[in-house]
Amino acid sequence: MDLLERAPLLDELDGVLAATTTGGRVVLVAGEAGIGKSALVRRFAERHSADARFLLGACDPLLTPRALGPLHDLGRHTGGRLAALLAAGSPREQLFAALLDELDRGARPQVVVVEDAHWADEATLDLLVFLGRRMDRTRALLIVTYRDDEGKLVDYVSEDVKPSPADLARGETRKMDCLDCHNRPSHAFELPERAVDRAITEGRLSRDLPFVKKKAVELLRKEYPDRATAEKQIADGLLDFYRTGYPEVYRQRRAAVESASVGWAM
Ligand SMILES: Nc1ncnc2c1ncn2[C@@H]1O[C@H](COP(=O)(O)OP(=O)(O)OP(=O)(O)O)[C@@H](O)[C@H]1O
Ligand SMILES: [Mg+2]
Repeated sequence: MDLLERAPLLDELDGVLAATTTGGRVVLVAGEAGIGKSALVRRFAERHSADARFLLGACDPLLTPRALGPLHDLGRHTGGRLAALLAAGSPREQLFAALLDELDRGARPQVVVVEDAHWADEATLDLLVFLGRRMDRTRALLIVTYRDDEGKLVDYVSEDVKPSPADLARGETRKMDCLDCHNRPSHAFELPERAVDRAITEGRLSRDLPFVKKKAVELLRKEYPDRATAEKQIADGLLDFYRTGYPEVYRQRRAAVESASVGWAM
């Protein structure tokens, strides 16, 4: 069957595949159900059956999603180490790394297709993030298809409803936070000490700045009217602490102090 109106897209995909000789690429194919995402990818695979190796994986609309379903599909195509690791139930990092190694194998460019990512389980979404961030180090092409008509919101409003959508549009908007719905004791907050430890372990706060934990915990413990103010005052607080209390550290370790004052308290 001939695909209608798809020649430009197929040519574009050809171009992206050719460009993988200088570094891997990612292509997202989005569109409503039945628009022809799979047909496009299938035709592309047919066109390159001789000059590229296609690894196909698909997500399914299962009630209990299969963890890493598409990766298992890919493993069946590749065999070898990836398949062995999958069969052994190996940890995710090893599986993801094995797939990445697989993409560097062989002379032909490789195309990984993950179909229907709108049904992806969480582990597969992690895999896509992992791959997406590393494709440029490979010579492969990752194609992800998904429906973009999921989650559409249609409001049906009865005419006698008060306030009407027009009234609401004229009203004041206030962003809610957690405490609008439940009280402080019922909300699982991370203890300041633990949040700071985590920021230090994850390298968001430099552990060798003097008294960094003490000061950061103290700043986290304070009350702030809202999140934006908290973020600003915590950042400024740390900066001031070193600028006024430890001017020598501030001068010599300016970058560490500044990065400690930006966004670590997320
Ligand atoms: N360009 C086209 N010209 C003619 N027929 C097409 C074209 N694209 C798709 N079709 C036909 O439309 C039908 C649906 O296409 P396809 O399965 O590729 O859609 P899809 O976007 O992958 O849908 P889904 O989101 O359900 O996976 C198929 O029968 C396919 O052969
Ligand atoms: Mg499809």
